[in-house]
Amino acid sequence: AAVPIAVVGATGAVGRTLIDLLVQRGFPVGECVPVASARSAGQRIDVPGGTATVHDLDRYDFSGVRLAFFSAGTGTSERHARRAAAQGALVIDNTNAFRMAADVPLVVPQVNPDVLDRRPDSGIIANPNCSTIPLVRLLAPLRRRYGLRRVTVSTYQAASGRGNRGMAELRAQAAAATDDPTRTGPVEAFGVPLAYNVIPLIDTLLADGFTLEEQKMRQESRKILRDPTLDVTATCVRVPVLNGHSETVVVDCDAPVDAGELAALLAGEPEVRVWADRPPTPRTLDDADLVHVGRIRVDPEHPNRVAFWLVADNLRIGAALNAVQIAEVLVARGVR
Ligand code: A2P
Repeated sequence: AAVPIAVVGATGAVGRTLIDLLVQRGFPVGECVPVASARSAGQRIDVPGGTATVHDLDRYDFSGVRLAFFSAGTGTSERHARRAAAQGALVIDNTNAFRMAADVPLVVPQVNPDVLDRRPDSGIIANPNCSTIPLVRLLAPLRRRYGLRRVTVSTYQAASGRGNRGMAELRAQAAAATDDPTRTGPVEAFGVPLAYNVIPLIDTLLADGFTLEEQKMRQESRKILRDPTLDVTATCVRVPVLNGHSETVVVDCDAPVDAGELAALLAGEPEVRVWADRPPTPRTLDDADLVHVGRIRVDPEHPNRVAFWLVADNLRIGAALNAVQIAEVLVARGVR
């Protein structure tokens, strides 16, 4: 049966991608209510099956929908997601608001779909961070085959991680700097200019010297993989790419790794593509709904240590697609 849904943040980068994916994947959408801030309330936007009027979240009552996707920022989810769940919607939340909450499952459907067997008491299911999702999708098979001792990861994260605003700012900065590299253009979303630059600081800086983004990668990986002591050290870096996050990953395993065998193992994972001849890059992904892996190599001096490169569309794999795939599992299992 068709599922009535609300998309909170429907005018944003993730919300738009989510609506596109619902159509492309043939998700059984009943009514689709787009919800955003008072700024865009009243606008007509495309939704599955036609167009619809954007509702103001502050005035919207969720009792008419069964599923509510939230991608409107952590603060917005903190203020409204529990209310939406209390009004009867099952919330799939894309923000950092509830990921580590004990009563909220944190789900990557290819890794831990078993936690979607029933409606959680909180009525909220969390979607992990955009860099955590492709990482754990590759760590899970590595762990099964070789065991994980230590994970060291550096990210190369795109402007779209900051939504439409981030992409618009990068384009404006690039345009400003093209004729005169000393010109920066508008500098708001990333603190310093992103065009012709790299920024090793994403989200808040914490007391231990790591950033919140780096802490998320450790804590969320532990929760999803159910390994509370998993050793993960992350460095998260913003790069002047419009869309598509990349990561360099170095994994120390319990057992020696054979690069060819690992390539075959990862190629056999659902929705993963292994590149043999040249590495994938954010601008050369032919299928944005796959996790792309390249440069798989074993350290000649440390046979248990393997390094690889991954690229994944952060708006899709890292956000909207993961959320839609959670919804697909829920529908298939009749969870409501
Ligand atoms: P709006 O367009 O009305 O500002 P992005 O990640 O691309 O910046 O998009 C953020 C999304 O979250 C947009 O849809 C935006 O709506 C929505 N949003 C931001 N703040 C709020 C809020 N306080 N209440 C409801 N929606 C919000």
